[in-house]
Amino acid sequence: MTNIGQTIIEGKGKRVYATENPDEAVVYYKDEAMAFHGLKRGRIIGKGEINNRICEYLFTLLQQQGVPNHFIRRIDDRSSLVKRVAIFPVVVKVRNIVAGSLARRTGYPEGTRLKNTVIEYCLKDTELDDPLVNQTHITAMDLATADEICRMEQISLRVNEILTGVLADINIELIDCKLEYGRFHGEVLLADEISPDTCRFWDASTHEPLDIDRFRHDMGDVEDAYREVLHRLTGYVFKSNEEGA
Ligand code: C5P
Repeated sequence: MTNIGQTIIEGKGKRVYATENPDEAVVYYKDEAMAFHGLKRGRIIGKGEINNRICEYLFTLLQQQGVPNHFIRRIDDRSSLVKRVAIFPVVVKVRNIVAGSLARRTGYPEGTRLKNTVIEYCLKDTELDDPLVNQTHITAMDLATADEICRMEQISLRVNEILTGVLADINIELIDCKLEYGRFHGEVLLADEISPDTCRFWDASTHEPLDIDRFRHDMGDVEDAYREVLHRLTGYVFKSNEEGA
């Protein structure tokens, strides 16, 4: 039994609560969706439950493959127990195929396969549109040490390798993903979430997005896309609808 305490932080898709154990937190996944740094808001019915299950599946799999992460166990439909890490104020974006901000920034055509995996770092700062920074900015601004960045990069490449393989088996291409890390007793742990909210998943046959881009760009069938990813990954058929208490 985990007693839920005060809210530590609330983000676009999640609320994180303290527990009586200072080393643990509870993540509650919401149906709320946000895009373009909060300019577009809405709800994707069932998203919270689906993302909770996708994260349980992927974090467990990554743990089994030796990727250190924050996941402890799923508590119920929408909540999971995690290690309470201190999140680094930078995110890591891993890219295999050109899409989104990379296409906009460079003019490279969306859908082009990159000759090597691209790793980008962005500041977690919504007001500033999460600006791109490099490793020297991160160490100069004391956001993480050189060793910690090295570890984040190493883990990110491994995560990308594992996810690309797992998704290929279910006919999904991993276009890119956004990863977050935290410090936990001197160790760097993969944290936050890995879900259609934070990754670009394209159906490998049709190249249709099965992720938050459907919401961002009003493509329709958003709920179905989230359900499809969960079903292909785990075989679980999502039935319930509205966000519960
Ligand atoms: O927009 P951009 O191309 O930089 O996004 C790269 C990846 O990071 C995409 O999978 C996107 O869904 C994810 N992302 C995110 N949260 C943001 C911005 C991007 O999860 N605030």
